[in-house]
Amino acid sequence: MKRDLLGMEDLSRREVEELLRLAGRYKKGRKKGSSSELRGKTVALIFEKPSTRTRVSFEVAVHEMGGKPLFLSSQELQLSRGETVADTARTLSRYVHGIVARVSSHDNLVELARYSTIPVINALSPLQHPCQALADLLTMQEQKGKLKGLKVAWVGDGNNVCNSLMLGCATLGSHFRAAVPPGYEPPAELVELARRRAEESGGSVEIGHDPKEVVSGAEVVYTDVFVSMGKEEERERRKRDFQGFQVNSQLLSLASEEVIFMHCLPAHRGEEVTDEVIDGPHSVVFDQAENRLHAQKAVLFKLLSGRARSSP
Ligand code: CP
Ligand code: NVA
Repeated sequence: MKRDLLGMEDLSRREVEELLRLAGRYKKGRKKGSSSELRGKTVALIFEKPSTRTRVSFEVAVHEMGGKPLFLSSQELQLSRGETVADTARTLSRYVHGIVARVSSHDNLVELARYSTIPVINALSPLQHPCQALADLLTMQEQKGKLKGLKVAWVGDGNNVCNSLMLGCATLGSHFRAAVPPGYEPPAELVELARRRAEESGGSVEIGHDPKEVVSGAEVVYTDVFVSMGKEEERERRKRDFQGFQVNSQLLSLASEEVIFMHCLPAHRGEEVTDEVIDGPHSVVFDQAENRLHAQKAVLFKLLSGRARSSP
């Protein structure tokens, strides 16, 4: 049975732990050079939105694992001229061994996975960004030495990055508290799911509206842009609604002395975060960016290795 990674709910606690261990091993082993787990395999990367980190880290990951990354801008596919997602999925499944997709609609991603006979990996949808969450968990574990019991504060939009991080933290027993403006909460069904996972792991999930309250005593403070891709027409309203949600030195000073500051990037400096914080001594944003590569190698290994087609 093929496995997909569309959201963090697709992974059990044991599987997330296994992926983090594997990612750590890929990170340590990188200087030894390329490996061959994906030898003979092609991975299609379909991007409907711009990307720096996800695209480059997936291309490099597949290349360093001995496979071939095939970048496909959705504008250059017949998708852009009305071919259905289902027919695209069925066609690509005859050529390549896996699909990594950044999509404008989560439903389209689900459809892509449903009609593909090969694994589909979410490279960001409006609902989730699981590859980001795996890299973030790896970064927290490296920096703080634990995930269980870790106090994680999210400040800002209850968006795709927030959703996947919330599920990941809840799965591994962290205490996840988010402060979002009213109306920008993560979807209720994902909060419910995260709470159920937190009950099993010993973690907790709280969604509130006061940045100062959630940052107080936090060991990790995380933010993301106020205006995600696809929400550009809401920019002016969001600018107003997110007043008071900027992570600046004053807000960060309420956190634990050893706090780490995290951001998935790209950042809108001066909006959700000040230069002083993102360039300051607590910031680990480029470790996060690096860890995308190692975490995605672990995902590719888990979902794609062992699926090589035999020679004719
Ligand atoms: N964090 C992240 O996904 O960045 P890109 O949009 O550059 O891929
Ligand atoms: N929430 C942001 C993340 C970008 C990596 C977006 O969806 O645009």
